[in-house]
Amino acid sequence: MAPTISSDLLIADVVKKYPGSERIFTKHGVGCAGCNISKVETIAQGAAGHGKAVGMSLDALLDDLNAFADTGKLPPGTPEQPKGTNTMTAQAGIKNVIAVMSGKGGVGKSLVAGLLAVGLRRHGFRVGILDGDITGPSIPRMFGVRGKPGVHGQKLLPSMTQTGIGIISMNLLLPSEEEAVIWRGPMVSGAIRQFFTDVEWGDLDYLIVDLPPGTSDAPLTVMQALPVTGTILVTTPQALATMVVTKAVRLVKQLGGDILGVVENMAYVEMPESRERIEVFGPSQGLKLVIASGAPLLARVPIDPLIAHLADNGKIEEYRSPQFEELQHNFLALAPLKEPSPG
Ligand SMILES: Nc1ncnc2c1ncn2[C@@H]1O[C@H](COP(=O)(O)OP(=O)(O)O)[C@@H](O)[C@H]1O
Ligand SMILES: [Mg+2]
Repeated sequence: MAPTISSDLLIADVVKKYPGSERIFTKHGVGCAGCNISKVETIAQGAAGHGKAVGMSLDALLDDLNAFADTGKLPPGTPEQPKGTNTMTAQAGIKNVIAVMSGKGGVGKSLVAGLLAVGLRRHGFRVGILDGDITGPSIPRMFGVRGKPGVHGQKLLPSMTQTGIGIISMNLLLPSEEEAVIWRGPMVSGAIRQFFTDVEWGDLDYLIVDLPPGTSDAPLTVMQALPVTGTILVTTPQALATMVVTKAVRLVKQLGGDILGVVENMAYVEMPESRERIEVFGPSQGLKLVIASGAPLLARVPIDPLIAHLADNGKIEEYRSPQFEELQHNFLALAPLKEPSPG
């Protein structure tokens, strides 16, 4: 397979597409990757002009750049980011990025990501959802969104939901919903990074990111590649016993991230007549969850046939319930931005 980054690309384009890569240029002696000259200079020209004096190798530079493009990891010896620079300036309009994570699949991570977005939108915030679950994207179906993303210049435009939430998902780009994506981890994280940098998100108060499931490479590199403000952890009562939650918590903390809150989904079923609550997946682990994560419990969401019905029919924006109110209320209480920004 041909490498992603070749020497005939403009330095400026590479830096724009792979934020952070300017530090790799610096490492190899092509110091002013952000300066004006680089806008018209290819990597080969830049190397010839700036790098010769320090005896740099164009091949070594390209190897480092391609490794970064594939894995999102900066090579050893990369200098620290100079103070006062922001690698994510391409998306300066996004105020907060909230990552929704779960230790394992099927616990309702996508549902909670969707509900958080719906709740924020109801409160007047400008919201987008980045469906980072490349191999199992479920956000568009939940919102009944089918329209292909539009194109604006070099960028994609998110498809809009009924209430005005912008969505980008692999599902919207594939020819049919049934199409399977079988990708290696590095390609997944590359795609998600592009969903962030190559999409015209506009001004957003919150971008909700539905992370790939699990605690493997995929969610990890996403957390590293995006400027995540805080993480919401979703689990079921059952999951705590299997250590996945502890693992997920450790992962976020290792990356220096902040767990804003935890959501216990499928906590119980309420009988329609008697209102009796049956804890299908065992007793609530809410307290243990709070101890394990060091973060507050935002809500215990019951198994609700209405959720399943609305999610299957693309109408999740119509969902209302006391527990959902509680989730919104508690999220806003600790959210980084409590009022919609004007405009
Ligand atoms: N509280 C709930 N009540 C009813 N159905 C739910 C609930 N949470 C999730 N579901 C359903 O369970 C399935 C899995 O949820 P999903 O959010 O896709 O999980 P994940 O993203 O963690 O794999 C979906 O069909 C979803 O609609
Ligand atoms: Mg999902």
